[in-house]
Amino acid sequence: MPILTDIRTLATCRADGGQRDVHAIAEAALVWQDGVITWLGPERDLPSIFAAEPRSSAGHRLVVPGLVDCHTHLAFGGWRADEFEARLRGKSYLEIARAGGGILRTVAATRSTPRDALVDRCRAHLAAARALGVTTVEAKSGYGLSLSAEITLLEVYEELGRTDASRVVPTFLGAHAVPPEFSADRVRYVSHVIEDMLPAVAARRLARFCDVFVEETAFSANEARAILEAARAHGLGGKLHADQLSNGGGAALAAELGTTSADHLECVSDAGIERLAATSVTAVSLPIASLYLRQPSMPARRLIEAGVPVAVATDFNPGSAPSFHLPLAMMLACTLQQMTPSEALKGATLYAARAIGLESTIGSLAPGKQADFAIIDAPDHVHWLYHFREDACVATYIAGRLVYLHAD
Ligand code: NIG
Ligand code: FE
Repeated sequence: MPILTDIRTLATCRADGGQRDVHAIAEAALVWQDGVITWLGPERDLPSIFAAEPRSSAGHRLVVPGLVDCHTHLAFGGWRADEFEARLRGKSYLEIARAGGGILRTVAATRSTPRDALVDRCRAHLAAARALGVTTVEAKSGYGLSLSAEITLLEVYEELGRTDASRVVPTFLGAHAVPPEFSADRVRYVSHVIEDMLPAVAARRLARFCDVFVEETAFSANEARAILEAARAHGLGGKLHADQLSNGGGAALAAELGTTSADHLECVSDAGIERLAATSVTAVSLPIASLYLRQPSMPARRLIEAGVPVAVATDFNPGSAPSFHLPLAMMLACTLQQMTPSEALKGATLYAARAIGLESTIGSLAPGKQADFAIIDAPDHVHWLYHFREDACVATYIAGRLVYLHAD
């Protein structure tokens, strides 16, 4: 039974209380067995039965639950640095998309990237994220947009789930954009998603969730409703890219359908917030995307004050959020959205786990939960997000196994 001692602050992120309650324990120890936490508490209370067990030291640092990135578009071919520059020169994200850039450009690049190369790229991103303390990553398809290319992306995630050190949670996002082959007949594409793609994905259990991008350039609320109802009939949970670039009724739809999460919400209305507050939908804030698109970010304070749990994630993708740096997203949740460091931490751990339906096994540190945690070179989480540095994570553990150790 391995024991981690000399933890200056153990931010457990236990479920009780609200978003601001991280239930930190000072001068703590953590014990686990076979990948599962068996005891934690003040080190002075460590039961004597553990006296002979192997110990390692956290070096009088902060320990947090393994970070959960609950919204990424992990597998894609190519990059779009030129669009980043074009936006800085004044073009808008939607203008670029309408001119054939944006998501459809990455679709072309992804379709022409060999499957093994996609696996290798994802592996590199996951390893780099582990070095930041990230232990679980939700990963969406959505850059294939044909039956075979969407299946390939989900097979990439299936292979990573079996062979990579990180936990990978796959989401089917066939309704990310209408692909060029269907540009003249979007109704037929929606039917293709519902009648061909979803059954194939569900039959092989290649995804846990189905997501839809509700936006002028993507899908309407009615189309999303039809897709998510079909997904539910196949046993998939629902997610929505909602109210990102305009208010398209995404939040109200998430509330109506009781999706697991409603993501983005930069343009959510007061009525949308009210609707969400009456449900158990988790809102997912993606401040890296709003920063790169230079738009006001999600009104997280209003959502939290209305009682909506707000998760924080990266939205890692080659267009709107070309960074998988979840601690950066947490710092931006503080600076751009006025979330406190405690709220940002609970948002990137327990509430992020909730946004992917895994809050009973990961996302907080408590007996019976997976021993996923990160040692951070800071006295506490406030200092961590305040004195932002690239190399703050010292070590990362998944199911009690060391998966990253800072070299120095
Ligand atoms: O979440 N909004 C839709 N999808 C992504 C952007 C994808 C892209 O630009 O390639 C997002 O921001
Ligand atoms: Fe996204």
